[in-house]
Amino acid sequence: MIGAMRHHVLLSVVCVWALIVLLFVGKLITFRAADEYGDRGVQNWRVPRPKTVTASTVASPESQHSKSTDQTSATSPLMSLPPPDPEWLSINEKRLELLSSVCKNNSLSNLTHVPISEFVLDRILVCDKHKILFCQTPKVGNTQWKKVLIVLNGRFPTVEEVPEEAVHVRGRKGLKHLSSLTPQEISLRLNTYFKFLIVRDPFERLISAYKDKFVKNPRDEPWYNSKIAPVIIQKYRKSHPDNELTPSKLQFEDFVRYLGDTVDRKQVDQQFGNYIIHWVTYTELCAPCDIQYSVVGHHETLEQDAPYILRAAGVEGLVSYPNIPPGITRYNRTKVEQYFSDISKRDIRRLFARYQGDFQLFGYPSPDFLLDREDEHKAEEVKLAF
Ligand SMILES: *[C@@H]1O[C@H](CO)[C@@H](O)[C@H](O)[C@H]1NC(C)=O
Ligand SMILES: *[C@@H]1O[C@H](CO)[C@@H](O)[C@H](O)[C@H]1NC(C)=O
Ligand SMILES: *[C@@H]1O[C@H](CO)[C@@H](O)[C@H](O)[C@H]1NC(C)=O
Repeated sequence: MIGAMRHHVLLSVVCVWALIVLLFVGKLITFRAADEYGDRGVQNWRVPRPKTVTASTVASPESQHSKSTDQTSATSPLMSLPPPDPEWLSINEKRLELLSSVCKNNSLSNLTHVPISEFVLDRILVCDKHKILFCQTPKVGNTQWKKVLIVLNGRFPTVEEVPEEAVHVRGRKGLKHLSSLTPQEISLRLNTYFKFLIVRDPFERLISAYKDKFVKNPRDEPWYNSKIAPVIIQKYRKSHPDNELTPSKLQFEDFVRYLGDTVDRKQVDQQFGNYIIHWVTYTELCAPCDIQYSVVGHHETLEQDAPYILRAAGVEGLVSYPNIPPGITRYNRTKVEQYFSDISKRDIRRLFARYQGDFQLFGYPSPDFLLDREDEHKAEEVKLAF
């Protein structure tokens, strides 16, 4: 009798244990599946990343099949949104594939890999409300994206109503930077949030930085011309006798020679502090090979990209990207040719050597037309021949 009872108890204990083990293993599998699923990034548009994570933590095996399940069965209101245009999806997928394949190219690793440093974390803006991270790449329409995030945080109803100063302050009144969080908070966000950055042709971006900071200076930032320019001129200007007397404003040539310097540039950069964000590479700003971005937007196609990025981030309808004046984001080869027309091929080659990673990672054709160009009169002859 007692023997039978003991048997019974033993059996129950074994059963309970088996159940616990099964549950545990089941949970592990779901977690792993969710991780792998999340890592693929592109395929899970219909279930934005943060939502996938929530689904997996309640351990519903269906979450793995959500790609094929009917949208209407989803509980989150976000999931009832129409899926992004398949054509654009495949464009983004190709961009991410290219990015990951160039990241794997060892001969470029110096130009494509950086540690996820404090500097990088300081570039990344956080929208916890909608689980979005945005890495800023100055000169690529970032102010507007910052306004979009401020609206998403709920402080203003539309992008048009966000005042300029809100864009430039940090913290509660502006936007939170990833660098202000603890390591645990940072890795949680890097692993689960929707992450994006916007890029444009690297040389056109440098021209824009030069114009914006040293020529036009529309935001009245005197330090570019009063502090930074003299250092660059002194170190990098070719010593033509007529340049010695009046150290004029920074020329594009000075700027290019500074950017392409492999020997002393880092030391020079250290004097400039965070102002260098306007011209350092996308790799240095955003670590695109070391952080797995969900979307890469291109400035040249921003009109198409912006609404899809908002849709992919699961915030379509909550905010819209401001109107883009037609043609303003288009790549202008004539402008690039003009700016580089007085720059020696040697300096262009050095500049390209530094920015080559950015060109390749994001699929911008290398600017061979600047390196292959003939002497001025020969080019003229070629034109006449056609
Ligand atoms: C790696 O990059 C170098 C330099 O651009 C290029 O010549 C080479 O073909 C690339 N290798 C692969 C495997 O793509
Ligand atoms: C990468 O950088 C290291 C140290 O700066 C250098 O020794 C190495 O030659 C570089 N490799 C390439 C492929 O440029
Ligand atoms: C391209 O740049 C050139 C030189 O800056 C300018 O004259 C021209 O209007 C620009 N073209 C377009 C389409 O914006």
